[in-house]
Amino acid sequence: MTTTNADNLKRPRRLRENPHLRDLVREITVRRDQLIMPLFVKESLQQAEPIASMPGQFQHSETSILKEVGSVVHKGVRAILLFGIPTIKDAKGSQAYEANGIIQRTIKNIKKEFKELIVITDVCLCEYTDHGHCGPVSKSGQAYKIKNDEAVTLLTKIALSHAQSGADMVAPSDMMDHRIKKIRETFDQNNFETLPILSYAVKYASAFYGPFRAAAESAPQFGDRKSYQMDPFNSDEALKEVALDLEEGADLIMVKPAMPYLDIIRRIKDQFHIPVAAYQVSGEYAMIKAAAAQGYLDEKEAVMESVAALSRAGANLMITYFAKDLAQWLD
Ligand code: PBG
Repeated sequence: MTTTNADNLKRPRRLRENPHLRDLVREITVRRDQLIMPLFVKESLQQAEPIASMPGQFQHSETSILKEVGSVVHKGVRAILLFGIPTIKDAKGSQAYEANGIIQRTIKNIKKEFKELIVITDVCLCEYTDHGHCGPVSKSGQAYKIKNDEAVTLLTKIALSHAQSGADMVAPSDMMDHRIKKIRETFDQNNFETLPILSYAVKYASAFYGPFRAAAESAPQFGDRKSYQMDPFNSDEALKEVALDLEEGADLIMVKPAMPYLDIIRRIKDQFHIPVAAYQVSGEYAMIKAAAAQGYLDEKEAVMESVAALSRAGANLMITYFAKDLAQWLD
């Protein structure tokens, strides 16, 4: 008769031997209905143009985006995040709140055809201003300031125009102070009291947005975004931003970028009991694509692992350029 020795009591590999057994004990499931696909529509285009810095992604024309949305929906994705690129840019980004602007038209066209799809809109000025900043700029010599309260007035107009065009949710990404409060008040005064706000509450001044700025044609023409976006070396500040935005009426909170900030997602989940969205940004996408193209890693495995990481950290919603691929790969 053999006796069980102490070593035999602890053999974690017993649960890893058989693939079905591994599935039985798997802790995390990522669901297709957690995914949000970002899409770009550019006013001046007649047909879709590939984005060089983001292989597999396109700037869409007003008509090609409808086809793309159809394909995204067909794959089982239930939500999109829309970005618009206008033909005319000016100091105040006025095309962003034009009642019949590119994004407003696109929202209407999409909602007409795809009633069930959740259409979320990015609310920001940087794609619409000629200087590429997320708010109006005051300059004196070399020095410049991004004017917070003026920006908030414009952002509120943008958000309202999206709501009036039929958006299901707005996502302010500008990082100006108090914009959630003003947007909430405006929505409530205009019969949009049930329209949710997904706040980019925790948006870091990140190098990982590089490929997006080429895609959205939104790079700042001078300076950087460090006076409004957060310092990557901070963590407590994220909790402060979340607390403020929740007080101001945000319904959901976003952390952006995603993979380099898993600790932040977890801290927020532990402290606040709210749905958290993680945005796997353009640079995260481009890194995986570039490495896969070189044969340095397996794209599907890497993407699945990356969303598992977001889910383990506590993310409920996942905004990712891989959403369409993931919808096919997930059970
Ligand atoms: C700003 C905005 C940015 C992204 C989403 N909204 C860029 C920025 O702040 O410069 C980045 C998204 C990505 O990198 O995928 N409107």
